[in-house]
This record gives sequence, C-alpha cells and structure tokens, in this order.
Amino acid sequence: MSIRTLINPNARKILDGPYPDRAPLRFHRRLPGYEETPLVDAPKLAGALGVGKVFVKDESSRLGLPAFKILGASWAVYRALEERLGDEGFGDWEEIWELEERLESLRPLSLVAATDGNHGRAVARVARLLGLGAKIFVPDEMVLARREAIADEGAEVIVVDGTYDEAVERSAREAGERTLVISDMSWPGYERIPSWVIEGYSTMLWEIDDELERRNEAGPDLVVVQVGVGAFAAAVARHFRSPEASSHPKLMSVEPASADCLLESVEAGSIVSVPGPHDSIMSGLNCGKPSLVAWPTVSRGIDLLVAVDDEPAREAMRLAADSGIVSGETGAAGLGGLLALLRAGGAEEARMTLGVGEDTRVLLFNSEGATDSDAYRRVMAG
Ligand SMILES: Cc1ncc(COP(=O)(O)O)c(C=O)c1O
Repeated sequence: MSIRTLINPNARKILDGPYPDRAPLRFHRRLPGYEETPLVDAPKLAGALGVGKVFVKDESSRLGLPAFKILGASWAVYRALEERLGDEGFGDWEEIWELEERLESLRPLSLVAATDGNHGRAVARVARLLGLGAKIFVPDEMVLARREAIADEGAEVIVVDGTYDEAVERSAREAGERTLVISDMSWPGYERIPSWVIEGYSTMLWEIDDELERRNEAGPDLVVVQVGVGAFAAAVARHFRSPEASSHPKLMSVEPASADCLLESVEAGSIVSVPGPHDSIMSGLNCGKPSLVAWPTVSRGIDLLVAVDDEPAREAMRLAADSGIVSGETGAAGLGGLLALLRAGGAEEARMTLGVGEDTRVLLFNSEGATDSDAYRRVMAG
C-alpha cells in the first residue's frame, strides 16, 4: 500500500460565500422517484477504524441511478434551460412533465457531457426525463458496463481516443444553439453550469443535517470526500465551511495516486495538471485537473489531502458490504483513504491534523453503488 499526505497550509475553518441554500433540495423533491437517501450508522466500520461513530450517506441509489451525480446534473440542466427560456422561464410547476411541455420553443435540443461514468449517465437520464437528446463523450479506458449503462439511457455514446480530460475538451466543442454542454468540469469562460452542478450536490448535505437533527445527533468531527475534479468536495466544503454550519468538522480528501490533481495543485499553490494514464479502479476519480470553480473552495476548505493506490478501495468495498452497504470502487474511496491513513507509518502529523481518536464522529459518502457488477463480484470474492 502506498499513501501520500499533504497538510493544507491554507486551510480555514470558515470560508467566504456564496453559501448554499435549499433551492436545489426543493427542486429535487419534485423529481420523479425522489427519496432521501439513507444515513447509515455503521458501528462495525467505527470499530474497524477505531473511532467513535461512522455515518455513511449512502448514495448507491439516488433518483433511480447508482450514484449521487444526478443531483448536480439535474439542477444544472434546470438552471441552464431556465436561462435559455429567457423571461418566460419555467414559471410555477409541480411535476416534471410540466417542464417538458414548456421546452417546446427550444426543441430540437441535445444535452452534451463528458464523463468518466456517473455524470454522463445522469445527464443522459435527465435528457430522457425532459424528452431531449443526449450525446455523451467518454474516455477510451471506460469499461463496457459503464458505457452500456449510458447508452441504455438513450444517449449517443462517443468514445474519445484519450483520457477523461480529453473527452471534456472534445465535448466543449459541441456547444451551440441546438446543444447544451452540461459539464461538471469548468474552465475559463465556462463557469456557470459547473457552479450549478456544485449547488445541486447540496441536497445531500441538507438531508444529512435534517436527519441528524431528527435523531438528536451532533454533527460530524471529520468528513471524508473522494475527489475527481473537486465539484463534490466543493459542495461539502461550502456546506461545512459556512459560518452557519451546524458543525465545522475537519475535512479530508481522497484521490487515486495516479490522478492526485488536487493534492498536486494545493502543493503547487495553483491548479496544475497531472499527466495520464489515469487508470485507477476508482474510475470516477480519474481526472487530471481540478475544476476552476471548485478550486477557491477546495484549496482552502480541505485540511488534509490524501492519495492512495487501489488496494484500500477494494478493502473498503468489502468492509462496507459487511455493514450492508453496496459500495463501488469510487464510492468506497473515502473509507479506503481513511483506513490507509490510520494505518500508515510516518503519518502521525497528518493524523494529528485531523485529530482522529476513539471519540471522533466520522461522516463518509458512499457516492456510488456497484456500477460495474462484474468487477464488484470479483472484489467481493477476493
Ligand atoms: C461516484 C463518484 N464519487 C465521487 C466523484 C468525484 O466527484 P468530483 O469529480 O466532483 O470530484 C465522482 C466523479 O465522477 C463519482 O462518480
């Protein structure tokens, strides 16, 4: 097992705004099949980690898909379409078919995205719900099961000869009057839609707050997030770094050693690219560059950055299964990174930064279920 850690010299407990609000949550509640995802109290995981409590926000089934990503994709599509509709907007609505009806003036229209799996599938699903086309660009490394899952949503899947970052570049060229690019990655001049993606993820955080309050539980002391381009981490950091947050826990990020673009960027003090191949089994994290709009938040919001190889993710998948949680490779990355950190020789200072001990209350995100079922079975058997 290899692990790299970086204590963030710029970490702050409270960040300046914009602070999240509940508008995305109100939107998601109106989507078909909306249900709060479970916040699992996992004593076996707490035992394995030697901490007081572990909560797992289990996103293995969210709005009918096996990952949380549709929260960001759906909110970004909604906001972008509303903007295209101009003054008339969507007006009042209760159900999704009303939105579909109000899109007549924009048709024909296709949603375009690049993806390393879950975001593209989510965009394709939203397109289908709204009766729009979908064109999804994927890196050539993507396993067939994930490509097929996107195609099964009715999308055209285009395999790009290159990495996820190259797929993003290719998809950006599609922007036009009849196409709307919905990316979770951002670059100069393309910032609004990826900011809405981050806003959309806030639904998970409000659900956690509400559930902890219902259970009369205090907030976490430590939150672990897995990082690809950093949009998800930005949503988590915005929530817990707002002055009004119910708690201000320590935040730790986990990336694959072969695609640790956030760790490298924080070390360099500005956004840098990590060259491919990005071939981790934590495929949702195979990104070579952090997102521009996530950067101001994540570069100051995360206390400790960790990069690990694939083995901890496999172990974490098995441990999660033992607690009744179906966790795919990317979904288990946060738990895997924390396990690796707690065991690693020479990481005392990093552990002290987090202040982890036997009373610590940890929040983890199972951000995806078994999105590649053959690989999942192999890991379980291993
Ligand atoms: C399941 C899952 N978890 C976490 C992430 C990381 O999110 P981000 O790319 O916003 O850092 C992804 C990204 O695709 C993902 O698919």
